[in-house]
Amino acid sequence: MDIKRTSIKDLLQSNDFDKSVLIKGWVRTKRGNKNIAFIAVNDGSTIHNIQAVIDVPAFEEDLLKKITTGASLEISGTLVQSSGQGQSIEIQADNIVLYGEADPDTYPLQKKGHSMEFLREIAHLRFRTNTFGAVFRIRHALSFAIHKYFNDKGFFNIHSPIITSSDAEGAGEMFRVTTLDPAKPPLNDKKEVDFSQDFFARPTNLTVSGQLEAELGALALGGVYTFGPTFRAENSNTPRHLAEFWMIEPEVAFNDINDNMDLAEEFLKYLIKYALDNCKDDIEFLNNMVDKELINRLKSVAEVDFVRLSYTDAIKVLEKADQKFEFPVSWGVDLQSEHERYLVEKHYKKPVILSDYPKEIKAFYMKQNDDGKTVRAMDVLFPRIGEIIGGSQREEVMEKLLTRIREMNLPEEELWWFLDTRRYGTVVHSGFGLGFERLMLFVTGMTNIRDVIPFPRTPRNAEF
Ligand code: 4AD
Ligand code: MG
Repeated sequence: MDIKRTSIKDLLQSNDFDKSVLIKGWVRTKRGNKNIAFIAVNDGSTIHNIQAVIDVPAFEEDLLKKITTGASLEISGTLVQSSGQGQSIEIQADNIVLYGEADPDTYPLQKKGHSMEFLREIAHLRFRTNTFGAVFRIRHALSFAIHKYFNDKGFFNIHSPIITSSDAEGAGEMFRVTTLDPAKPPLNDKKEVDFSQDFFARPTNLTVSGQLEAELGALALGGVYTFGPTFRAENSNTPRHLAEFWMIEPEVAFNDINDNMDLAEEFLKYLIKYALDNCKDDIEFLNNMVDKELINRLKSVAEVDFVRLSYTDAIKVLEKADQKFEFPVSWGVDLQSEHERYLVEKHYKKPVILSDYPKEIKAFYMKQNDDGKTVRAMDVLFPRIGEIIGGSQREEVMEKLLTRIREMNLPEEELWWFLDTRRYGTVVHSGFGLGFERLMLFVTGMTNIRDVIPFPRTPRNAEF
């Protein structure tokens, strides 16, 4: 009778000893002597390998020779209790089918201990390492947890468009989408590119945020969220920026900025706890291999109350700081990562939610405060990361929003559909954006954002 394949994760949790089993996977290591060999196999279902014990004389020499690190195979045999150290269960192999060899002279992952930089150059193979296996299993679990969190709270997932004609953040960092020939685009009378002849008959770009569309949804469905790819053509080559990243943007009707902060704090804590509870083996591996403080840091953030502080008070703290900053601080400046990390890591030693920023450094849609100077923005700052969430209460009063759009010289006519929500049945509402890869950095302890997304897009880099 044919035996069905069992995942290594399921096998390691079973205790069906003396049962016939069949596994399929990739060889991690092979060691042994003329009489006995041990093959460690991984199939991606878990960080752990299963060990197969080989009675060497019972197998063809040529077959065993081809079983090297990276080769793919199927092993069937009997599940037995292990007498060796390091595992409690192993397979006493009866039969091996080799699927694909991996020439040890050229296979790039033949040896362990490659640098992260090297592994980035072989992003197509790095899934096969323990570290990236752990990272991408955690990425899946968090992605699932995000949908679960919102679903359990009665939010609706909105698929906002990837191609848009608006610049939600007003920062102008957009990738153009066009079918016009860059070498000879059609020109109008003024010798400007004639976008009426482009595919959408207007200039379009990849979205920098799904927020504006999420607002439209929230003002009908109550609580909504987007979870999609986001594109920014900012030329920042830092360990925390990608040109293509994933953002989660909840938007909630009737929520003010305090409700928004409560939601952000509860959401982040839920996700961290979810990872601790559901990705135990992978997080323990990363704690041992990548960052010895990881589990402590995750537990402490999941339990502590976040500090809530106004931008104005934060500037006072920073002006008194016993540390010299590369970028000097005064009221009105945009905070740099060094300032954010001083507040979180040195001063308060816990996550901080900063609010009420100067309106000049924030987007047009934010709710204006009565002081005429600040807006109801909120950024959540995390240890090691800096800004992990950016959000705000939205300006729901038509006249105030229009005044701001005009002050900032934004294309009022093109935002008519957005303004309609303020024209008809406007309500107080708020939302925020969580950078998924920034969350991933925090939860995995990895230090470079290029190592928490399968195929990073950064300036001058889009090979795979
Ligand atoms: O602060 P941002 O620009 O806010 C928005 O886009 C709002 N529309 C969100 C909203 O209110 N719905 O971006 C939100 C978050 C940041 O806090 C950061 O975590 C992440 O997105 N982020 C990036 N992550 C990776 N690479 C980049 N280039 C990023 N830019 C922003
Ligand atoms: Mg921001």
